[in-house]
Amino acid sequence: MGNPDLPTPQHIVDKLIEAAKDPRNHRYSVSRGIHKLRVAMADWYRRKYDVHLDPETEVVATIGSKEGISHMILAISAPGDMVIVPDPCYPIHSYSAVIANADVRSVPMLDDEDEFCASIERAVKGLWPRPKILILNYPNNPTTNTVNLSFFEKVVELAKEYELIVVHDLAYADLVFEDYKAPSLLQVPGAKDIGVEIYTLSKSYNMPGWRVGFVVGNARVVGALVRIKSYLDYGMFQPIQIASIIALNGPDDCVKETVGIYQKRRDVLVDGLNRIGWHVEKPKATMFLWAPIPEKFRGMGSLDFALMALEKAKVAVAPGIGFGQGGDGFVRFALVENEHRTRQAIKSLRSLF
Ligand SMILES: Cc1ncc(COP(=O)(O)O)c(C=O)c1O
Repeated sequence: MGNPDLPTPQHIVDKLIEAAKDPRNHRYSVSRGIHKLRVAMADWYRRKYDVHLDPETEVVATIGSKEGISHMILAISAPGDMVIVPDPCYPIHSYSAVIANADVRSVPMLDDEDEFCASIERAVKGLWPRPKILILNYPNNPTTNTVNLSFFEKVVELAKEYELIVVHDLAYADLVFEDYKAPSLLQVPGAKDIGVEIYTLSKSYNMPGWRVGFVVGNARVVGALVRIKSYLDYGMFQPIQIASIIALNGPDDCVKETVGIYQKRRDVLVDGLNRIGWHVEKPKATMFLWAPIPEKFRGMGSLDFALMALEKAKVAVAPGIGFGQGGDGFVRFALVENEHRTRQAIKSLRSLF
């Protein structure tokens, strides 16, 4: 699983403890997130992407991004509406549409951003009634594919032409290596007219168990999510919201440290696999490695291959088919073990070859 193993930075934990001691924080909170938290999120976007957001109408805090995605799709789609999702994809991207009784249409994920954009356009053009929502995620889980801002420029154009709502999951915004920078959909002028972006504190700040995410951008979509959430929940425990303000406002050295650790693990894993004859390339981002199943095992399919890796080498990898039919030729490694354990895993995997 992509379950970060590193501890939440101490200054964030300390703030949680301090806030938890104050009885004023023990009451119901605000489901859309307290004002200062939404301001901190807007400030984060301004600093990182020079994107300006109105904390009142364009930002809503969510109980992790999974909750945000699923309730948002429920709020903005009606049964039978078509939702376009890449195959493979992070499971909630397709299941949010299933939960909402919408109609999922898969578009094969392609590495080349121009070809992928063209294939989305072909799919949209060929469907009637026209699809309503397009869900994207870059840097991508599970494929680790990345894009440049020009991809989002084309997506915004496409969305305007075909009246699509674009939902972009930016979970791995900060987990980028060397000189790659992950763009935000909202950097494209006019992106707020057609879409929203989802961000999470789970990965950048090692806060997966805390459940803090955000949906930002188009005010109508944000408003729909605020409305449905006001019926469903009273917001996160307030001390968590207060500690999240501290996380977002920085300092950001802790994020850099985390990225450095993932980068080293990536290098140990990729170099090691290449040494034992499993040819893989270094991903530019995320905390994963999307590895094509070695030639001699390809016929087995990803599920049986993953079971074999578990039984014979005691290494757990996620079978690509868990992310969609298009993932069946691959397995996904998560960089959630230290360098020593990663080396041990490579040694055991050698026995398979
Ligand atoms: C693309 C993507 N989105 C969202 C999530 C979940 O994030 P959260 O912990 O905010 O629910 C993950 C977790 O692995 C992910 O890979």
